Amino acid sequence: MSESEPMDIDPLLRLRANLPTRWQRLWRALNEREGLPWVEKYRPNTLDEVVSHQDITSTIEKFIEAGRLPHLLLYGPPGTGKTSTVLALARRLYGPPYKKHILELNASDDRGIDVVREQIKNFAMTKVLFSKGFKLVILDEADMMTQAAQSALRRVIETHTKNVRFCILCNYVNKITPAIQSRCTRFRFSPLPEKEVQRKVDEVVEKEGVNLTDAGRDALLKLSRGDMRRALNVLQACHAAYDVVDETAVYNCTGNPHPKDIERVVQSMMSDEFGTSYSLITSLKMEKGLALQDLIAGAYDFLDTVELPKQSRIYLLDHLGSTEHRLSVGGSEKMQLTALLGAFKIAVELSQKKI
Ligand SMILES: Nc1ncnc2c1ncn2[C@@H]1O[C@H](COP(=O)(O)OP(=O)(O)O)[C@@H](O)[C@H]1O
Ligand SMILES: [Mg+2]
Repeated sequence: MSESEPMDIDPLLRLRANLPTRWQRLWRALNEREGLPWVEKYRPNTLDEVVSHQDITSTIEKFIEAGRLPHLLLYGPPGTGKTSTVLALARRLYGPPYKKHILELNASDDRGIDVVREQIKNFAMTKVLFSKGFKLVILDEADMMTQAAQSALRRVIETHTKNVRFCILCNYVNKITPAIQSRCTRFRFSPLPEKEVQRKVDEVVEKEGVNLTDAGRDALLKLSRGDMRRALNVLQACHAAYDVVDETAVYNCTGNPHPKDIERVVQSMMSDEFGTSYSLITSLKMEKGLALQDLIAGAYDFLDTVELPKQSRIYLLDHLGSTEHRLSVGGSEKMQLTALLGAFKIAVELSQKKI
């Protein structure tokens, strides 16, 4: 309740105090939900609500029905529903008090060998009252575990298979030792199709009363690249910062360069004189707080939309790629920018040659 409406607080509190306990609990739950980030508030509760991975969720559902849940290894890019699937699975198995039956460990927890062993051992040994069957250990971001910890984990999995099922979540499956991989049933979570993200975004926009323009929505979907977490987080940040969430708001919130700026940069690199172009880009970078990496990613997308002779396009793509690589291993921004400018100049010369 905001401070501008103090008169409303008292009657509301009185009303709440007079409600039956069940309704009071619901009231509290709803209030707690209000304070949540949208990614949590709109996290799917059931396996059916996890979109775009019906094949995976229905297979898991079959495992549960048959009472034969194997250890699971869920992998794929962020924001595609791995954690949501496991939590929905836990809720499906144990009902609302599911938290007592699961142990969640992620990369921010200390995960040396001893921690893994001890925590899991203790958890596996303690019995939840009135329950039989197995408990779930969820290891999030398992690809960040050291090799030694993973080897220890292998033994832990073996010794506790009787009463514990492991759900191992990660982005890169090849960072998980083959020994663990072979003990789990693997499921790949691919990036979500744009129309699924759009459907969810539309739902949230409606429920939260976001003033999202069509261009804003297109930009949001483009920038999230199938990562629903990113889409919802950006939407919430934009909604908090702007009354109308349009294309510019989305680009500002994410710190991504606006396509118009990219266009200006690429046009300048192609047609302006070297010095002019260099100072234009440097000042734009300063003014908008952009990194050369952002400009390269933007230029890459932009080049897709313009006509260029084959030889120039290949030359440019090659140089964008190698500049990006050199930046990622610590090359200086200034030097890489001049190198890139040079590459654009040569690409323009190439385009004038007949081959
Ligand atoms: N397949 C999906 N179906 C519905 N919502 C999803 C899906 N994937 C992601 N989300 C949304 O994005 C948020 C983050 O998803 P999460 O399951 O934590 O992703 P991951 O663990 O793969 O990084 C969830 O809270 C949910 O709101
Ligand atoms: Mg996750």
